[in-house]
Formats: sequence, structure tokens, C-alpha cells
Amino acid sequence: MYLDRYAVIGNPITHSKSPLIHALFAEQTGQALSYERILAPLDGFREAVRHFRDEGGRGLNVTVPFKLEAFALADRLSERAARAGAVNTLIFHADGSIEGDNTDGAGLVRDLLKQGAEIRGRRVLILGAGGAVRGVLAPLLAEKPLELVIANRTADKAVRLAADFADLGPVRGCGFDALEGPFDLVINGTSASLSGDLPPLPDDLLAEGAVAYDMAYGSEPTPFQRWAEAHGARLALDGLGMLVEQAAESFRMWRGVQPDTAPVRQALAPKTA
Ligand code: ATR
Repeated sequence: MYLDRYAVIGNPITHSKSPLIHALFAEQTGQALSYERILAPLDGFREAVRHFRDEGGRGLNVTVPFKLEAFALADRLSERAARAGAVNTLIFHADGSIEGDNTDGAGLVRDLLKQGAEIRGRRVLILGAGGAVRGVLAPLLAEKPLELVIANRTADKAVRLAADFADLGPVRGCGFDALEGPFDLVINGTSASLSGDLPPLPDDLLAEGAVAYDMAYGSEPTPFQRWAEAHGARLALDGLGMLVEQAAESFRMWRGVQPDTAPVRQALAPKTA
């Protein structure tokens, strides 16, 4: 049987869960496709993409550190990718053109809403002002929070980032020292969790019933999740759901079919004894 080919491309790539996630989506929806991992050399992204396409590839997921290069490579961009300034999904069209999309923000918002967080009319805080945060701001603002505050170690970066999105809703930037709670939803988009660190946060940051969400995930709760639990969060979630939802959105863009994420989420959840 002929299979349409897809892959995730990054460096490193060994630990990517995307092949498993997309294999489960394909099985569930009866789509005839294969999904591989591609390790591209740090200076060889463009060539690896062309090679995969020339061999008949239909689309790619793009991960660290190539999301900006993918943005530059695409012939055209979806509105949300243009806003994000980064591309995590490439679509190879039959006419030879390459479209760049970004499904990260849609994935985050969908997971938040599915897990019971409210955004509309709420005070929302996002920590960090790097690429990961830029990628999700437009979809968050589209949910119409009362206010979206971006707080960052380097305050200037948060202020500038907020200015870039000010046309989309009530967003402002500040440093951690200027944070004034309480917030109904706090999202950690810093890379601090990856090194076991935690941004400095005031004790009274969380409103009653607040939801805390770490865009990172691991086999253990992150330092931010632990902090949130200790400071009264109703829910302290990690980013595994976002990973599955952004994958589902990429799958939908490629195949026109919406997979059910719940069983895939279940299959990936760390087993509790
Ligand atoms: P990414 O693509 O993951 O967003 P990035 O663009 O390098 O990576 O951004 C990393 C973000 O995490 C930045 O907001 C960074 O803060 P600075 O802009 O002040 O550098 C933040 N960050 C990284 N380590 C941190 C730590 N230990 N405490 C607080 N913030 C941290």
C-alpha cells in the first residue's frame, strides 16, 4: 500500500514523541501515512527539507532549533505563523510550494479549555518572553482575556513583545518584580523548568481557583507545577496536553481530519502506580 510520508525534523530528535502521537492518530482515523524522525545537521536544515520533499514527503513538523529557519524557508505563511514569527508545521503542496503554519498556540488554548481553565474575561499571566511565548500570544488573545500580562526576567523584552501584539487585545509586559496578582491563569513559558529552575514569583500571585500551566513537561512535575500546588492552585498542569493538541492540529492541516486526542493523551500519560 502507498503511504503518504510525514516526519518531525530537529536536532536532537531521538526523544521526540511526535512519531508515536501521529502513528496513533493515523491508526485511529484510518489514514494511510508514515511518520518518521529526521535528524538534520545544525547547518543543514534547508537541504534536509528539500531532500525529504523531493523524495515525496507531504509535510513536516519542525522542532528545536529550526522553527525560525522553517519560518524563513516557507513560500507562504498562515496568519498565525506570521504572528508567531516561527513555524512548527510545513505543508508541501502539489504545486511545489511550501506553506508554513504554527499550531503551538492553538494546541495550548485547546488543552487549557479541555482541562477546565477559563480564559475569557480572566486575568491571565504568561511568564517568559522568548520564542515559545511569542508563538502562543495571538491564540491566547483571541480568547478575549480581561488582561494578558507578560512577565520576564529581562523586563524590556516583555514590554517590546507586548507592544508587538497590542493590536490584538489588552496585553502589557513587565519584570517579575512589578507583578501584581492575583491571576486566574498563570502559564509558564520560560525555559527555566528545563534546567530545574523557577522564576521568582510573589506568594500572592494566584487567585482563588487559579489554574497553573507549564508549557514544559517531564516524567516528574516541574518546579513551577510544585510551586503552584504549594500556593493554592486548583489545577497545576504540564505541557503534555499541549504537545498532543498541537500535533492534532498539524494532522488536521495535513489530512483534513480531526483526530480524537483523549486516547492518545492517555497512552502518553506517565503510568501511576
Ligand atoms: P524559547 O524558544 O524556549 O522561548 P528563548 O527564546 O531562549 O527560548 O527564551 C527563553 C525564555 O526563558 C526567556 O524569556 C528567558 O528570560 P530572559 O529573556 O530574561 O533571558 C526565560 N528564562 C530562561 N531561564 C530562566 C530562569 N532561570 N529564570 C527565569 N526566566 C528564565
